[in-house]
Amino acid sequence: MNKMHTLCFNWVPKAALVACVALGLAACDRPTPVERDAATYNVVHVEDANKDIGTYVIPQDTAIVNEPNADEIFYGKRLLNETKRLLPDNVGASMNCNSCHIAQGKVPLGDPYINSYNFYPKVMPRAGKEVDLEARINGCFLRSMNGKALDRDSREMKAMIAYMKWLSQNVPKDQRVDIENAGAIDESLVPDPVRGEEIYYAQCAACHGDNGEGMKDSRGDIVFPPLWGDESFNIGAGLARTYKAAAFVKYNMPMGIQTVGLWGHGNVLSDQDAVDVSEFFAHKPRPDFPGKENDWPLPSMPKPKDARY
Ligand code: HEC
Ligand code: HEC
Repeated sequence: MNKMHTLCFNWVPKAALVACVALGLAACDRPTPVERDAATYNVVHVEDANKDIGTYVIPQDTAIVNEPNADEIFYGKRLLNETKRLLPDNVGASMNCNSCHIAQGKVPLGDPYINSYNFYPKVMPRAGKEVDLEARINGCFLRSMNGKALDRDSREMKAMIAYMKWLSQNVPKDQRVDIENAGAIDESLVPDPVRGEEIYYAQCAACHGDNGEGMKDSRGDIVFPPLWGDESFNIGAGLARTYKAAAFVKYNMPMGIQTVGLWGHGNVLSDQDAVDVSEFFAHKPRPDFPGKENDWPLPSMPKPKDARY
């Protein structure tokens, strides 16, 4: 496993050779068997998701030093971790990007950035048009961070994208890592906010506070991000929607508790629990989102049923 930071391939002689030529990766001249563990995923063609053409191993941050633009990637990583402190003019909420993109965007079902560099530009129903990665990032600045857009050509924007590109580990544009951004949730369940409130105080309030305000340390840095109120994400954010929030909560919260599998993926909450608690906190008071009337402009890409406006 000493090649943790590189993209290597299973030992299938012909396929490996073809894949190596196709990918042009120097690391593949001596293919080594890779153990498929929790941090290892298939690389598949976008067109044919069943065709396994290689193995992606989540890279270690220590490998960043080997990159020619290491300083830029490290800066991007810092910005994603400490967004509020480093970009106060652009961040209104007490939130960092990685408050929702768990473990620096490296965890399946925790809004990972692993495929982001390759997935954009893409058409987003909410925008009703094609959106590139800069615009997608600014979508999170405006909504999830309740802040202001970053200049598209700024050093900061470029650095964040450099981190995401590094995380994609040279997976070619027409291929993707076979992991999901969010887990499945049964959207036919009817939310019960009263039950949700009970779950909140039993499972969430210890960290996120009795009034959803989260917690800061003595320097004012975020320890636990707020779930509602003036310092939380605004009504235009994905997490302000019950089922979107439930899909996040079920597979990532309560943080640090799991019985099986990855960090947070221990299914502590049932689908119903996640839907109920999400209905409760998502509908608590939070900032408005100016411009919300422009969302979902196309009848061919209608509003989801949990849209708030
Ligand atoms: C309050 C939670 C939250 C915060 C804070 C947040 N995001 Fe997001 N972000 C999301 C959600 C939810 C999605 C949609 C994920 C999905 O289901 O595809 C998303 C999507 C994205 C995507 C597209 C992912 C993909 O591959 O499709 C990028 C890139 C992104 N966010 C970057 C950022 C950046 C940069 C910041 C900080 C400026 C940020 N986000 C802050 C919740 C958040
Ligand atoms: C042990 C502490 C802890 C508990 C308990 C916990 N969380 Fe979290 N939560 C966190 C941390 C820490 C983050 C930020 C992610 C990070 O820093 O890795 C977070 C992030 C979040 C986010 C995204 C950011 C935001 O503020 O909107 C939501 C939503 C969330 N938690 C909901 C819940 C819900 C619902 C529960 C109860 C079912 C819960 N959490 C229980 C620690 C906790």
